[in-house]
Amino acid sequence: DTPKITVVGSLNMDLVISLEVMPQIGETVHGDSIHYIPGGKGANQAVGCARLGADVTMIGAVGDDLFGKRILEEMEQYGLSQDGIFTLKNESTGIASIYHTKEDNSIAIVPGTNGKLTPEMVKSYRDVIAASDIVLLQLEIPMETVHESLRIARSSGVKTVLNPAPVNPLSPELLQLVDVITPNETEFEMLIGKKADRSDAELFEAIRTWESKFGNKLIVTRGKHGATHIIEGKLEHVTAPLVEVVDTTGAGDCFNAALSYGLAKQWEWKEILSFAVRAASISVTKFGAQGGMPTLGQITNSTD
Ligand code: RIB
Ligand code: NA
Repeated sequence: DTPKITVVGSLNMDLVISLEVMPQIGETVHGDSIHYIPGGKGANQAVGCARLGADVTMIGAVGDDLFGKRILEEMEQYGLSQDGIFTLKNESTGIASIYHTKEDNSIAIVPGTNGKLTPEMVKSYRDVIAASDIVLLQLEIPMETVHESLRIARSSGVKTVLNPAPVNPLSPELLQLVDVITPNETEFEMLIGKKADRSDAELFEAIRTWESKFGNKLIVTRGKHGATHIIEGKLEHVTAPLVEVVDTTGAGDCFNAALSYGLAKQWEWKEILSFAVRAASISVTKFGAQGGMPTLGQITNSTD
């Protein structure tokens, strides 16, 4: 049966400038092109889940401006319902200014209406959350809204996935409400206190300590190297297939969408991780955050 996933998160208009090399501080460089494309970690993850065939409700906010309109049109294209989207009068839609090179990106976001998604707005969707298999969250909306979403999910017995991006300090109270947390390597080091180049033994210890402290599962995403987690008491590195990279923007979003889909399907962790890593690898072969989200068929037909 169709998994039900609720994403509570951001919607942005991505202003993507593609370049050969990143400009350095104080430097001016020529860009190759600029594209205006809908993005935002929340919307990207919602699209990722929808492309896999999940029944998705996205709870978020846009402004009553051109970007907001354009974003809603794009959602419709992906077959996503706009039921959970608040259009806020006289407010600006969130924006992400992105420098994109083949291998990297650098992003500055202006939250706009994402910063105005209140706990009360989410509360009005309590029934939708309660009827979900998974609630998926990121950190581009106010922390109290993330916290309230987690509370509602926990009190309704619904599992939650938190992608702690962009990274922010998280309270122990909030963390105890999370079932699965998926930092990338940098975010992980920020969350637990920075230390570069951990050995596998140290990494194992850090993840194990975290998991027993907060009672959740922690998965570290490692870009083209895949993802790392503890399974059956051992550290496992799940490797990613080698691909021709076009745009890494949204790869993390794709990983989280696929992981949430697998969780909603109640797959085994080994299967979920391999699925999510392969999904993310496919996503980087296409331009744009949402445009590269693979279908179920594309993932199952891919080999590593
Ligand atoms: O994760 C990628 C996303 O981060 C982009 O779409 C951009 O909107 C920023 O939020
Ligand atoms: Na992409």
